[in-house]
Amino acid sequence: MKTILTYGTFDLFHIGHLRLLQRLRALGGRLVVGVSTDEFNTTKGKHTIVPFADRAEIISALSCVDLVIPETCWEQKADDIKHHQVDILGMGDDWRGKFDDLSSLCEVVYLPRTEGISSTQIRNSLRMLSAEHVRELKQALDLMSAIVERFD
Ligand code: CTP
Repeated sequence: MKTILTYGTFDLFHIGHLRLLQRLRALGGRLVVGVSTDEFNTTKGKHTIVPFADRAEIISALSCVDLVIPETCWEQKADDIKHHQVDILGMGDDWRGKFDDLSSLCEVVYLPRTEGISSTQIRNSLRMLSAEHVRELKQALDLMSAIVERFD
């Protein structure tokens, strides 16, 4: 049985995440998932809606996942590969080429992403619905109405 390792933030868990994890597990057996901590995401300028503990709990509950570990920095991958005796490091193909330097330690594969969905896209849609954004739109509308009235 092979051990597969992957990393990700998995904010607002969606079908692209599920398909990637299922396809990784199907590569050979035991799947270890590094979930990015909130502190690590902050250094990347990424702000999640779902906090780390909840994201990690959701990933842990999946039948295709055997172990969740925290991802706290870019540099931990080599140690994780050795510590968990990883055979394959697998990522979505938005990361293509980025981890090739680890191929001396294990096989590195990039799987195609699911088209048309991402956490960023869902976060942006939620933002569009936020009360603050609706208030901003209403203010803009009021301003435009006032301008139009001046020309009546
Ligand atoms: N992924 C995927 N298909 C998608 C979205 C993500 O296969 N439609 C994969 C990514 O390639 C990555 C893993 O899921 O290997 C975790 O990605 P993550 O960055 O957490 O998800 P995104 O939806 O891409 O989030 P964001 O928009 O915040 O980058």
